[in-house]
Amino acid sequence: MQKIIILDFGSQTTQLIGRRVRELDTFCEILPYNKFPADDKDVIGVILSGSPLSVYADNAFHPDLTAILGHYPVLGICYGAQLMAHMTEGGRVEPVGTREYGRANLEWMEDGNPLFRGFIQGSQVWMSHGDTIVSLPPTFRKIASTQTVQYAAYQVEGQKTWGVQFHPEVFHSVQGLQLLRNFVVDICGSRMDWSSQSFVDQTVAELKQQIGTDRVILGLSGGVDSSVAAVLLNRAIGNQLTCIFVDHGMLRKNEFHDVMHDYECLGLNVVGVDASQKFFADLAGVTDPEQKRKIIGRDFVEVFNAEAQKIKDARWLAQGTIYPDRIESLNITGKTIKSHHNVGGLPKDMHLKLCEPLKWLFKDEVRRVGRQLGMPEHLITRHPFPGPGLAVRILGDITPEKVHILQEADDIYIKGLRNYKVKLTGEEARRVLAAGVPADMQDGEIEVSLYDQIWQAGAILLSTVRSVGVMGDERTYEHPVALRAVTSTDAMTADWAQLPYDFMSRVSNEIINKVRGVNRVCYDISSKPPATIEWE
Ligand code: XMP
Repeated sequence: MQKIIILDFGSQTTQLIGRRVRELDTFCEILPYNKFPADDKDVIGVILSGSPLSVYADNAFHPDLTAILGHYPVLGICYGAQLMAHMTEGGRVEPVGTREYGRANLEWMEDGNPLFRGFIQGSQVWMSHGDTIVSLPPTFRKIASTQTVQYAAYQVEGQKTWGVQFHPEVFHSVQGLQLLRNFVVDICGSRMDWSSQSFVDQTVAELKQQIGTDRVILGLSGGVDSSVAAVLLNRAIGNQLTCIFVDHGMLRKNEFHDVMHDYECLGLNVVGVDASQKFFADLAGVTDPEQKRKIIGRDFVEVFNAEAQKIKDARWLAQGTIYPDRIESLNITGKTIKSHHNVGGLPKDMHLKLCEPLKWLFKDEVRRVGRQLGMPEHLITRHPFPGPGLAVRILGDITPEKVHILQEADDIYIKGLRNYKVKLTGEEARRVLAAGVPADMQDGEIEVSLYDQIWQAGAILLSTVRSVGVMGDERTYEHPVALRAVTSTDAMTADWAQLPYDFMSRVSNEIINKVRGVNRVCYDISSKPPATIEWE
């Protein structure tokens, strides 16, 4: 399959470049800046990402690009563009007085340059740089400027090599996707053969071949990744797949029952295990967050393995690992770090082989594949939920009563988010659509629920805290509930979501009126970092 290679120099938006290329139905791989696969015959073009570094800094990344430049079409973005200029005789990059951050307009573009096909005069782009190219090498030709950036884009004479100072991958660059299309499709010649349909067809065929008549076990969590992996495998091998869904007693209200029902409707061969008694017993009296996590992790492996051992002749363990879990991330010292890989629960003595059918997909692609497979929308758009469940959202020790209180409050909050619709236009609407939120544009306007606009939400029971309140004529002395909602693209960083006041007021009233044991509601306005998304 044709592919674009994105060489990562450590920018926050590298993964976004990858997602945009995939939106153009083109496969791409993100690799560390010095790991270009020179012998890969499927490569049709290369993108050099941005970086937090300066090209002239001592610790800057200066890979040897001779196997790339002139051999493949190349697009350098920000640092990538500065790097090619800096490494060529006559090029000079210097700091700008103040960091240029925000919207700018392409006041001038070279007529007929293929990179700008379809661009309108003054097209808005997004700048984010502390350095700028002050002198272009003689073999480089300026092809665009903004009011303040003279070399906003260039092309190398006689080569299919371009550099842009702005970020076409971010949604504020209004024609950014058009620029990437011009590069990926027109210049690199992508056949645009990477789509949900082709992924499903190809993966189902590969899984059939890989697995043959073997049996496969898969742990379901109710989340979108493991659910899509299960449906995909079910399509390939049907009843040779056994799914295990463990209820540790700390799921959301009715979640075990509802999700089991969904899975059964999808035709999955699923074993539901209610192990809540064991988890509650082992957690009794434990207040330390790490200790709680350890107990839940250990119990989960135990319960899962006991169930898995019952499946005779199992040869494979399937997991819903996705591409961002596997991308090697760079740190500024140039060392590569392997990001976390969720292999907990592998029953070692069964000698299972690992099957990861979603390992090349970004989260939004997993959702698209889920739709392609006909899965219900509420399973596909479900927020991430932590493995230890509500246990990490109850401060202090865990009891079934506390879980019950939190389930009720959380249910009111989540239902409220789903039912509250907001109309969006312009950039806001485009940003939400670009993030993969399912909505139809009508008269330039979209309607989405608050739930679909945010990354993740949940309630937290502050059961170690009590405060005084009054209900009717009665004094109350109960626990507060904190509400959390964040926007994010990958959970590595997150902002607290600015929910409408009328929504918060309604939810607060409903929780305090209906949930016994709660007399106060607070909203968590901490971003990540320095706070984390979960409280424990
Ligand atoms: P934090 O709290 O670290 O969470 O900002 C980042 C993302 O990870 C989820 N999370 C977990 N997911 N097992 C999981 O499967 C866990 O133990 C766990 N802890 C946190 C969290 O919900 C958020 O999406």
